[in-house]
Amino acid sequence: MKKAIDVAWMFPEFELIRDRALKDRIVAVWQELWAASEFTDIGDVPTSGSIPYPNLPHSRAVLSLCVRIADVFEQVHGTKVDRDTLIAAAILQDASKVVEYRPRPGGGVDRTEIGQTYPHAYWAGMLATKHGIAPAIVHIILFHSPSAAKFPASLEGKIIYYADQLDVIAISGDHWKKESFIYR
Ligand SMILES: [Fe+2]
Repeated sequence: MKKAIDVAWMFPEFELIRDRALKDRIVAVWQELWAASEFTDIGDVPTSGSIPYPNLPHSRAVLSLCVRIADVFEQVHGTKVDRDTLIAAAILQDASKVVEYRPRPGGGVDRTEIGQTYPHAYWAGMLATKHGIAPAIVHIILFHSPSAAKFPASLEGKIIYYADQLDVIAISGDHWKKESFIYR
């Protein structure tokens, strides 16, 4: 029996979103993704095929980090961060993992046709557009990953990008190496 999805339970900062219509749209995207998912418990969705740590606490941590970073930016520098954009994008950035992977009998996960065919987060970005979510938020969903073709343009997108990479280091160690380039 498939457990129902509850966005407010998964992501406590969901309640901080001011735009009521945006909250409804986020829930609609998550519900459509979850209806198409072969997982029956959101707690079984891993961070990736190579990182078995569950994605829910990872995504929850990324969201909490983002809100705290925005707090520091505003308190220390007076830098304005669009909270609705930040929180909405953080809640949706990894949502399509539920349809990019399927549970493999005997343990682990396999990539679905969606997971094999489209870039990570494409499906969530597509459904977010379908449900009327603003392009600024969809842009962050589509480009939040190091595997994306470009870096997120907005400050909100960059906060999510770095918070996500920091949290991946926290849950599974450092995957990055530093190289030097000369640009003109
Ligand atoms: Fe992601």
